[in-house]
Amino acid sequence: MGNEAQIEFWNTAGGERWAAFQERLDRSIRPIGLAALEAARPVPGEAVLDVGCGCGDTVLELARRVGAAGEGTGRVLGLDVSAPMLARAEARAREAFGDDARVELARGDASRHPLAAESFDVLFSRFGVMFFDEPVPAFAHLARALKKGGRVAFVCWRAYEDNAWAHVPREAVAPLAPPQAQEPRAPGPFRFAEGEWLESLLHEAGLTDVSLARFDVPMFLGASLDEAVDMTTQAGPAARQLAEVDEDTRARALSLVRDALSRHVAPDGHVALGTSSWVVTARR
Ligand SMILES: C[S@@+](CC[C@H](N)C(=O)[O-])C[C@H]1O[C@@H](n2cnc3c(N)ncnc32)[C@H](O)[C@@H]1O
Repeated sequence: MGNEAQIEFWNTAGGERWAAFQERLDRSIRPIGLAALEAARPVPGEAVLDVGCGCGDTVLELARRVGAAGEGTGRVLGLDVSAPMLARAEARAREAFGDDARVELARGDASRHPLAAESFDVLFSRFGVMFFDEPVPAFAHLARALKKGGRVAFVCWRAYEDNAWAHVPREAVAPLAPPQAQEPRAPGPFRFAEGEWLESLLHEAGLTDVSLARFDVPMFLGASLDEAVDMTTQAGPAARQLAEVDEDTRARALSLVRDALSRHVAPDGHVALGTSSWVVTARR
């Protein structure tokens, strides 16, 4: 199997939604990515591979940490299958660094994209490694690109039930538009919920010192209820369910999401829901 379904999704509706809502999605998940960045501990001069880098938020942050313009050899390769998201990443990298060569972006399937052996100090990802049809060969391929002793640090979601940002809006619209059934270990956001399974497949891929740390933090969904309804139904968890419904159903679904989110409005009016992730570290 060659990841075709995911590649199609991230080059059509999925990728287009992420590119359109890039700023707001980055704001929502940045605190979780920062936990993985702290675990990765990139230092000036290092080479980092950002897997499934999407619109490039973490590529930019990693590039800032591995080297100042013209200094050292620090570099970041952002690898992703999604053309619309890479286009956003390219524009942002140009704006941030101009012609400075410390950032390279490549379009390719990370499970098989040619990568020079032992060429990276760090393998990093913010929610970009949960979509491989065959995770063990994919991680083994990525591990070969790491120098011996090189570090892995990524974040992925824990169980759906522990991620209110996903289940609150999805369950709210379920009576009108049921969520797509998800096989527990099939490619998708929550496939690594079972920590022991994730640990075992990283070992099988040839990595050592595998460690999973639970990381729970609220996710900002909008400065107001309107913004949060917009975000969760257009770019977030319920967007896929609502993609095909008619106008009338959509209007009723938005009102159900509004009711569900209204229970999570903070005193200053912003809306936040709980998240739960694994911050995963390992070594080659
Ligand atoms: C949830 S998004 C996260 C994007 C980005 N890391 C961020 O945090 O904003 C998942 C990303 O993984 C990418 N992706 C999915 N399957 C991939 C594969 N086989 N190879 C490379 N990237 C992949 C998608 O295109 C998408 O950009």
